[in-house]
Amino acid sequence: MNITNIAVLVSGRGSNLQSIIDNIENGTIPHASVKVVISDVDGTYALKRAQQHGIEAVFVDPNKYDNKTSFENEILRILAAHDIELVLLAGYMRVVGANLLETFKGRIINIHPALLPSFPGLHGQQQAFDHGVKVSGCTVHFVDEGVDTGPIIIQRCVPVLEDDTADVLADRILEQEHKIFPEAVRLFVQGKLIIKGRKVEIAD
Ligand code: GAR
Repeated sequence: MNITNIAVLVSGRGSNLQSIIDNIENGTIPHASVKVVISDVDGTYALKRAQQHGIEAVFVDPNKYDNKTSFENEILRILAAHDIELVLLAGYMRVVGANLLETFKGRIINIHPALLPSFPGLHGQQQAFDHGVKVSGCTVHFVDEGVDTGPIIIQRCVPVLEDDTADVLADRILEQEHKIFPEAVRLFVQGKLIIKGRKVEIAD
């Protein structure tokens, strides 16, 4: 079986990146390799994590480009140079533009820390906490032109407890993110995800 070359886009600490790397290294995601990690923020811990695993780590400075298109053209150039087939957004805090989306249609996957379609955008955990929901969770989904609106692959619930703070809830959600994101990547790599309109069929 061919190896699926993966790129991971990040903006921060990279714990989800780490869960993908670990699951590839321990064989839970077979036939896959993270070839490059791209950050839109300089000096992120995610870039260090990549380097620690011998993975190319690149900072692409959005301020160096006139607009989203030229910024993403640079990302596209890096993806092409590494022969990337699958792009993961692991705490990447930008909305993907038309160029990148079109080139990787059905091949960009995002992890979001809430049960979509509730609480899209930034700070999903805090939004859910402030709203007073009794159950929250996380969602892995294909990326489309909207903000966290693409076809859902896997969701996982967690309870919101009486004495939670938003941070405690976020940690409980993160634990589940680290399970469902690698699981979704494994299913993609094994060709088991079939997008049918808004729905994702899982042929596992
Ligand atoms: C994660 O909770 C992820 O779901 C969230 O950012 C965090 C990144 O943590 N993503 C979003 O909010 C995207 N809108 P990490 O850098 O440790 O993986």
